[in-house]
Amino acid sequence: MTCLESWLSQHQDLQRLDRELLICEAMGMTRAQVLARPETPLPAAPRRKLDAWAGRLRDGEPLAYLLRRKEFWGLTLNVCNAVLIPRPETELLVESALGRIRPGDRVLDLGTGSGAIAIAVASAVASAGLRVGLVTGSDNSSTALAVAAGNGRTLGAQVTWMSSNWFDELPGPYELILSNPPYIAESDPHLAALSYEPQAALTAGPDGLDAIRHIVPDAFRRLSPGGWLMLEHGYNQANQVRRLMQQTGLTGIETLTDLAGCDRVSIGRRT
Ligand SMILES: C[S@@+](CC[C@H](N)C(=O)[O-])C[C@H]1O[C@@H](n2cnc3c(N)ncnc32)[C@H](O)[C@@H]1O
Repeated sequence: MTCLESWLSQHQDLQRLDRELLICEAMGMTRAQVLARPETPLPAAPRRKLDAWAGRLRDGEPLAYLLRRKEFWGLTLNVCNAVLIPRPETELLVESALGRIRPGDRVLDLGTGSGAIAIAVASAVASAGLRVGLVTGSDNSSTALAVAAGNGRTLGAQVTWMSSNWFDELPGPYELILSNPPYIAESDPHLAALSYEPQAALTAGPDGLDAIRHIVPDAFRRLSPGGWLMLEHGYNQANQVRRLMQQTGLTGIETLTDLAGCDRVSIGRRT
């Protein structure tokens, strides 16, 4: 019978970490156990599963869809191919919200997908003992909302889930509106590498700004005085997003950079 180490070396074209995590999943082992006991025999059934997963990884399917989960803000979220896999750079949106949130605030995560932002904010304020008002996560995808609600339940997050085409069913007001909307241009060549993720979560018109152009003025009307709009966007969209915010009447506008040094989140306030 083959062992873990020999399976790992047979698939060296794949990233080592990905291979180890797949073994953990197939064998019910921790990563420490895989590293400490590479001579562990690999029976036929998990081996067949691992070979199939290796093939899917080679075809470009993201590891998170194979494992059906992804870490975000230290939380494990279930994902499926109906939701965008939460990205580490989106944690900047959560961090920025937590820096401005006050007791009683009503928070909206618009286009919540797996529920990542809403659940991270609700969990962080709960563990800090801060009593905020309602945290709402909304999306127009019923499958995404089911995934988000399941994640909220599993993680014990106090979030209200709403089905809505952007703001159509969301009267507000909110003190914080957070959104990581689709922002990739329809012709962007990077989309080829994202073909497993829902296109409605990724693209927004010819320049990628259609959703943001729609959201900014509507968000302004739903913000309470002093409330903040915080939007994730593409690394090269900050100037346009700031201009849209300014034209709408938001003030205190600034852009925050992610850990890679890219412009990633722009924020503005309704004064
Ligand atoms: C980039 S994904 C963000 C998902 C999640 N917030 C995250 O950061 O991982 C954008 C989300 O917006 C949702 N969306 C797209 N168009 C929408 C619309 N017209 N109304 C509401 N939600 C929409 C998509 O279903 C998707 O879940």
